[in-house]
Amino acid sequence: MLTGKRILVTSGPTHEPIDPVRYIANRSSGAQGTAIAAALRDLGARVVFVTGPASVPPPEDVEVLRVETALQMLAAVESALPVDAAVMAAAVADWRVANAAQQKMKKTAQGLPMLEFIENPDILHTLSHHAQRPKLVVGFAAETENVVAHASAKRARKGCDWILANDVSPATGIMGGPENAVHLITENKVEDWPRMAKADVAARLAARIAKALS
Ligand code: C5P
Repeated sequence: MLTGKRILVTSGPTHEPIDPVRYIANRSSGAQGTAIAAALRDLGARVVFVTGPASVPPPEDVEVLRVETALQMLAAVESALPVDAAVMAAAVADWRVANAAQQKMKKTAQGLPMLEFIENPDILHTLSHHAQRPKLVVGFAAETENVVAHASAKRARKGCDWILANDVSPATGIMGGPENAVHLITENKVEDWPRMAKADVAARLAARIAKALS
């Protein structure tokens, strides 16, 4: 059980503005993060759910912090500390538009708009090196090739404890689909979980988190 534990979950995509009416986004539905938040809640945790504009509704009976951009997500994550554990399932945009316009961009005879990009902060890396680092930090790795090798390198690079790696090649139907097939990568072990419903991945992860925090 996770009674008395406070756990942060990030979920969904971010939207990075181009101008007041346009943005850059990605195809994350928020389904896996939402299922994880619900599973942690079901084990008794107090869940803080930081979500970008997802296409599935947030779970009930969790504290919901809605954000749009990566910068807002980082601020929301830091405002939620301290927590006992964090699961970072959000698909955060790597870049934002540096020269986003304050007014709607107009079609002009002068030509096409030129977007300049600037790197977003890495929220998982920041949290893993934070003065108030949670006891357990879990990241995700969405890969399309060499899934375990890339995800293991990512675990070390980001400084998190565990990585849940999944193969998001279009042929797998995982991104936006009802099922997931993941590898749980810890400091010295790789577990290959069978393909199962995202709710079952969530329940299994929540049980592992409960064990790790007990
Ligand atoms: O580097 P990559 O985006 O593949 O890493 C994925 C993991 O890092 C996920 O857990 C994601 O939530 C997290 N992440 C983050 N902030 C970013 C980029 C990724 O927290 N700016």
